[in-house]
Amino acid sequence: MKRPIEPFRIKMTEPISLPSEKERVKYIEEAGYNIFKIRAQDIFVDFLTDSGTGAMSQQQWAGIMNGDESYAGGRNWFHFEETVKDIFQKKYVLPCHQGRVAENLFFSSILKKGDYVPNNTHFDTTRANTMHKGGIPVDLPCKELNDDSEFRFKGNFDTEGLESFINKVGPDKVPVVVITVTNNSVGGLGVSMQNVKEVRRICDKYKLLLFFDAARFAENSYFIKKYEPGYEDHTIKSVAQEMLGYGDGAMMSAKKDGMANMGGFLAVNDAELAGRLKELLILIEGFPTYGGLNGRDLEAIAIGLKEALNEEYLAYRTDHIAYFGEILQEAGCPIISPTGGHAVFLDAGKLLPHIPAEQFPGQSLTVELYRKGAIRAVEIGSLMFGGEDPNTGEKFTAKRELVRLAVPRRMYTVSHLEYTAEIVAQIVKNKGSLKGYKIVEEPKYLRHFTCRLQELVANPVSAV
Ligand code: F0G
Repeated sequence: MKRPIEPFRIKMTEPISLPSEKERVKYIEEAGYNIFKIRAQDIFVDFLTDSGTGAMSQQQWAGIMNGDESYAGGRNWFHFEETVKDIFQKKYVLPCHQGRVAENLFFSSILKKGDYVPNNTHFDTTRANTMHKGGIPVDLPCKELNDDSEFRFKGNFDTEGLESFINKVGPDKVPVVVITVTNNSVGGLGVSMQNVKEVRRICDKYKLLLFFDAARFAENSYFIKKYEPGYEDHTIKSVAQEMLGYGDGAMMSAKKDGMANMGGFLAVNDAELAGRLKELLILIEGFPTYGGLNGRDLEAIAIGLKEALNEEYLAYRTDHIAYFGEILQEAGCPIISPTGGHAVFLDAGKLLPHIPAEQFPGQSLTVELYRKGAIRAVEIGSLMFGGEDPNTGEKFTAKRELVRLAVPRRMYTVSHLEYTAEIVAQIVKNKGSLKGYKIVEEPKYLRHFTCRLQELVANPVSAV
């Protein structure tokens, strides 16, 4: 693959520096081997998340100067509302300060204890918010996910599984079906329009609500245009409008394809639901024309949502990720293939078969990336998704042991990607020396953010 070229030039810089090896070893130990606890200034290249970490454009910064901080009815709100209504094809828009607030508001309004929420795959906050309201999250990723094909829509819903699940538990126990675009937890892979339509058909048949978790709707729309027959000649915006139009509503974290550092919203069609959401919004976030955000932030999001639909930008964005995947594979690390829209997922389970899921092979690789190169990644495996069900007390591990290198939007250049691949090549050479971990302190929900770990002294079986 050709080296992708950034379709922008740099107008402002932010220095980063590489701590010494001695410092890196000390910092990660002090952090309890939890990468979330390391100071950002001690990171060289930060792939922790693509959420709120990207660079804003000159147009967005200009928009910030045009912020109207009136308590009610500020001008930026109207720009924001009009933009969201147009792209999301919805009648009511409720701003909030990030995606998980949209989840909290929505699930508080529709879930009863014991209700099921099927999703192509829940993201961790969506899963936790569902459980927090007494709901039971159900992941139904498509069957192609586990084959070795280069099928481009491995983010799809298992629609047969969805229909048989609804029949099994009864439609009354399923107040809503959620489609996550792109499917973050399974590689940031796309969901096809055909799949969305089929989920809509099933929801219509059983009279269920269909909502999008739309954080990366623009990257998903690009995959549909590029890889799904029939969409070649559409604009990205018209693909997004069609896709989102199949939903009754959407929860959005504007920190991803809103191209902003903070923000989120709910967009819905039903007036009665919008009314209930608005009451809660005022209670926990703020007046409905700012919802916990500054006027200037609403402006940056309104501009960002439109920039995210720029095809030249999306082509660069997805090529950048694909190139990263390619050089990481050349470095000898197995990855989830094809690559998705925002991240490369390293397959730590395959790379480190000598570390069992209960000892977090993904965390072991994450710690090593910091120790060797001050690179920050995030474990997406049994540390994040395993644990104990608070409703049943049952212990479980994740299906796969992955490490995500999420690439902030418009921030790092190809050099940062190549540096990372060099560090990964060094780790691969010595992979047998990597050890498992155990948790020594953990909270009840979302333990990966705050838990402390300990490195195990010896490998459970002899090193490979
Ligand atoms: N839904 C998806 C698919 C997400 O990826 C995220 C956040 C959220 C909802 C929650 O949004 O952070 O604004 O409250 N994902 C980030 C990540 C944190 O790193 O993937 P939020």
